[in-house]
Amino acid sequence: MKLSRRNFLTTAAIAAPAALISADQNVPTSGTPLKVCVFADLHYHPGVWTNDTPAFLEKIMARAESERCDMMIHLGDFLHGVRSPAQKAFIKLYNEFKIPGYHILGNHDQDGNPYRETCDAYRMPDGHYSFDKGGFRFVIADPNYFCNEPGKFIHHENGNYFKRVAGSTINWIPPAQLEWLRSTIVGSPYPCIVLSHQSFERGKGAPVMNKKEVQAIFREANAKKPGTVRLVINGHLHMDHLRILDNILYWDVNSANFQYYGKKHDKYPAEYVKTHRGSLNNIGWKEPLSAILTMWPNGRIRIDGSKSDWLFGVSPKDAGYPTCDSDGRETLPRIQSTDMTFTYA
Ligand SMILES: [Fe+2]
Repeated sequence: MKLSRRNFLTTAAIAAPAALISADQNVPTSGTPLKVCVFADLHYHPGVWTNDTPAFLEKIMARAESERCDMMIHLGDFLHGVRSPAQKAFIKLYNEFKIPGYHILGNHDQDGNPYRETCDAYRMPDGHYSFDKGGFRFVIADPNYFCNEPGKFIHHENGNYFKRVAGSTINWIPPAQLEWLRSTIVGSPYPCIVLSHQSFERGKGAPVMNKKEVQAIFREANAKKPGTVRLVINGHLHMDHLRILDNILYWDVNSANFQYYGKKHDKYPAEYVKTHRGSLNNIGWKEPLSAILTMWPNGRIRIDGSKSDWLFGVSPKDAGYPTCDSDGRETLPRIQSTDMTFTYA
């Protein structure tokens, strides 16, 4: 971790084990914190993936309630389309919960329908939008665009991105949205939390194609007013990782449910596979993963993660899969905890 003299960081616990940790009482706090339940890539898909009932979502909502969260946010790939009665009921469960729940589009949320239909079901004005809450600005970006030819951006919908032509590129923020991001962030009266399904910081692991342009917007905003962009959060690759870049915390949030592999294994019980036909492409978690994010106006950010076990005791290694991805991030059934305070000057 490289720290400049101007950008000083106090770390109470970084990359701590997944068990919940206590906040360091010596870390100064001021103002009222905002408490958010964060979870990602639930991939509700009845009859296909692991943990295909509403039970995981219900457990995450129960945690948000017992932690008295101000809001919840899911980081995309909540499910695989919004039209079936089961999908509608699942969305309703979350949307009508007593704690306000926000959505982000993942690459799969509109697999079975036009993307605007998913926006409507998710109560989103568009794939990208923003809102202010508790003294923070939440900026939701939408990199679910691909290009079959340079400069022609097509939004994911109806599974169209599975039929991309050779030489196509994927995970773009189109120019108009880039300009919207800039105008929403630079000069924001509130500290900004930027959220998207795909990552703005990863190397080889399927990052947003024009992530450098997005990072330049963050630097521009923070040069103008330090501490404007504080936290950048993504899902998508089902990995648990924290990174500090340009005095911003980048949080790669693990899936609530499983890791996906292109090649099938043969380790799950035959009876289970009969009713979960895609589960041999999954290494599932036994219990859902979620995190409670608490943010203070003064720069303190606390994450209380969670820890589970492998479903049926089967790890990636047991199934013959690599344990790390192309960026060296390890598949684990956990979301790590941390508590750190950034200084902005
Ligand atoms: Fe995804």
